[in-house]
Amino acid sequence: MRLDRFLSGQTALSRRELTALIRSGAVTVNGTVIRRPETPVQPETDAVTLRGSPVTYSTSHWFLLHKPEGVITAARDPKQETVLDLLRPDDRLPKLAPVGRLDKDTSGLLLITDDGVTAHRMISPKHHVAKYYLARLRDPFRAEYVTLFRSGIRLREGDSEEQCQPAECCAISHDLAVLALHEGKYHQVRRMFAAVGNHVENLLRVQVGMLRLPPELPEKCYLPIFNKDVESALKNSDISDVCAFCDAHYSSYWIKERK
Ligand code: URA
Repeated sequence: MRLDRFLSGQTALSRRELTALIRSGAVTVNGTVIRRPETPVQPETDAVTLRGSPVTYSTSHWFLLHKPEGVITAARDPKQETVLDLLRPDDRLPKLAPVGRLDKDTSGLLLITDDGVTAHRMISPKHHVAKYYLARLRDPFRAEYVTLFRSGIRLREGDSEEQCQPAECCAISHDLAVLALHEGKYHQVRRMFAAVGNHVENLLRVQVGMLRLPPELPEKCYLPIFNKDVESALKNSDISDVCAFCDAHYSSYWIKERK
């Protein structure tokens, strides 16, 4: 495979940017600077670096979608629009599936991939990857939620009760709260706030691990993402950083609707 083609499959840079970088000497193959974009490389065995950082080879595909409300998280459905319907036909590769699930009424960051093994690591509660949600509440946020959620709240499930894992939460205004979950029970955020007597009016997933919903990405739009983004989705953030991010970029997300 040509070096420029290899790099364009593994990074977010355009072919034109990559050609300029290769010509400028920013790329090495097995320790040697290579300046010809057409140089052949063996993706599985050659060690390629770009601006000094290794470029790891992956054959999987990842997309980061800003899911809008009203679309279901499924690969296909005979009646309703699905998140995969939002991809351009060229991007609807075989085996693509959403990573976990957002409810029809929830918007925000949804990953779509054909890498089932890594997707499982991201969603399995065993691996503790945090998902961060911004919730708009009907009633004012109460300080006691922090301890109630941290101690692992119990949710009613028919006649029985389910124990949640400890969850962190904090308020960014009287009616906006950020909640970090390490698991994905059915309607979990909505049910957790209902269990403390409040109600979630709107829900936005803003972050998975350290991977954020880009503030400039409109609803229904998506981006291809690459290894370093996927790796960052597997690491956890400090909830205070997520709150600051939400405060700066998403605190007026639902303002239009409220007018
Ligand atoms: N919790 C919910 O209630 N809904 C979602 O979509 C995700 C988490």
